[in-house]
Amino acid sequence: MNVMAGASRQISDRPVVIGVEPYVSEAYARAENEKLWAKVWQVACREEEVPAVGDYVTYNILDESIIVARVATDRIAAYYNVCQHRGRRLTEGCGHTRRFVCRFHGWKWSLDGENVDALCRDEWEGALTDENLRLKQVPLGTWGGWVFDNVDAGAEPLADYLGTAAKMLNPFELDKMRYRWRQWLYFPSNWKIAIEAFVEGYHVLGTHPQLTKYGASRTWSRAHGKHSNFGPAGSKGFGGASGGAGEAVDARLALAEVINQLWEEVNATTTQTIVNAAKRLADELPPETPFMQVQMHLMASAMRDDAARGVTWPKIDPAHFGEAGTVWHIFPNTVVIQGPAFALCYRARPHGYNPDSCIFEVYVLERYPEGQAPKVENLYKPDHNEESWRRVLCQDFSNMGAVQEGIKSRGFAGPRPNPVQERGVTNFHRVLAEYMGTGAPQPIG
Ligand code: FES
Ligand SMILES: [Fe+2]
Repeated sequence: MNVMAGASRQISDRPVVIGVEPYVSEAYARAENEKLWAKVWQVACREEEVPAVGDYVTYNILDESIIVARVATDRIAAYYNVCQHRGRRLTEGCGHTRRFVCRFHGWKWSLDGENVDALCRDEWEGALTDENLRLKQVPLGTWGGWVFDNVDAGAEPLADYLGTAAKMLNPFELDKMRYRWRQWLYFPSNWKIAIEAFVEGYHVLGTHPQLTKYGASRTWSRAHGKHSNFGPAGSKGFGGASGGAGEAVDARLALAEVINQLWEEVNATTTQTIVNAAKRLADELPPETPFMQVQMHLMASAMRDDAARGVTWPKIDPAHFGEAGTVWHIFPNTVVIQGPAFALCYRARPHGYNPDSCIFEVYVLERYPEGQAPKVENLYKPDHNEESWRRVLCQDFSNMGAVQEGIKSRGFAGPRPNPVQERGVTNFHRVLAEYMGTGAPQPIG
């Protein structure tokens, strides 16, 4: 859909090779705990997961556990998930409570983190003070409907950390979207390999050939500080690159087919409204309508249909739409594929210190009429099959697992990202190396 990107000539970066250690070393995974995860802003949950005062979510990252709770109608707080008596975890999963109660000796805290009950406190003879009994707070920020936390008390503000990524995504009003579906599994690859499977469009032709029936565009890829984005380079439209023997492609039918395919094979990056509007294209437009016009018509009618049911699309300048591309990597471990009324998002976290395993989550957000967002559970889907994950994600899964295996070969010197189309991967490792205090990716040769 997003074909309005500028097709300016791209200058390639110096080709580099990335070491394999970050993907396969347990020592590296342990170092990440201190040098990366203890320093970055990371997505803990969506605000919609804690809608009412007393709602909480437990966010775990390696050995750390954080309680994110709505403590007032207009305030969310984050606490280290640990009892100040002898260190028992206070919560697990998500829920609703008036008090955080430790199940060991029954100490209790208010939502504000004040200790309200410590059995036989007098026996400490005053050593336990209100101050030293408080739950320890974790810095928290919100943006785009997400709740981020950062255990580094000296961290830069979230807005500075997100920088250009937030500015460019703000017009999409991601904060107004709500979950449509959520799924997760333990995946046998390093968390970075999982993320890297989604931060470039260079793999589409090789991995998802069925999506390129009407042509595959090259992609551009740009670094924005810690983060990166990519989008299609140029807007040939259907029949441009792929018309093959020169036969004309009916853009109305082709676009309807592509949209329907996304719906069926990704269950994301489009909506039911857009699918329905795409089905009407052949009735509403003459056969020769040029691609660009068909696309504008589709977007206008989907926007109108949504408006009629109370879903307002954000007004996004077409030039900005193109600049924003289709996919963002928010360092370190979130990917957002944004659209005017939807977003497909990924989060990958290490699964213990095993470099060969991660917790991989996929979720889809959508704009709904006020108060009509569905109640969505986070489903555990351990099987890598199309029934659980649809065709396109299964294709990506097959790469993730096979890369984790292949990368250990004695015959492999390290990944060599495409200097034009996989800048996001290179930038990821450049930034990662800064956090880790290791060498940046080296020029090939
Ligand atoms: S460890 Fe929590 S009350 Fe004792
Ligand atoms: Fe893919």
